[in-house]
Amino acid sequence: MTNDPLVERARAAALQAYAPYSRFSVGCAIESVDGEVAVGANMENACYRLGVCAEISALTAAQQAFGLANVARIAVAGGHVDGGSLAGEGVCTPCGGCRQAIYEAACLSGSDIEIICSNGGGDKVKATRIHELLPKGFGPENLNDAG
Ligand code: THU
Repeated sequence: MTNDPLVERARAAALQAYAPYSRFSVGCAIESVDGEVAVGANMENACYRLGVCAEISALTAAQQAFGLANVARIAVAGGHVDGGSLAGEGVCTPCGGCRQAIYEAACLSGSDIEIICSNGGGDKVKATRIHELLPKGFGPENLNDAG
């Protein structure tokens, strides 16, 4: 358990994951520049490749709630559900595809979005930023020469 409320929101969101195949539940909580929070969790599918990551699910909710350009901070927590709470030792960092999606929000907001990565238990966290997780990313400006 950490004392960062955003990490606790991500851990709580993970409890609503639908992850019967991997049995790895991920929650994501996104805070706006005004302190609003949108959450999401991973949602898997019997057709495995159609699964959706927690970060994408939370970014979709954030766009509805306050807009991607207003994203300030993101917390991600992953692990397994044990006795009604999220558990696990390993710190969960966003996958490559999710880094790309967060990068898009960072380009819109013009901010190097902070990402707090947590283990399931919430007692191990690593704070980083999108430009550290995805240096030299491909963003909207790379399309400037499109026809
Ligand atoms: N997962 C996420 O939700 N976010 C990530 O950044 C990494 C992976 C999910 C996808 C899948 O449902 C499960 O974790 C195992 O890969």
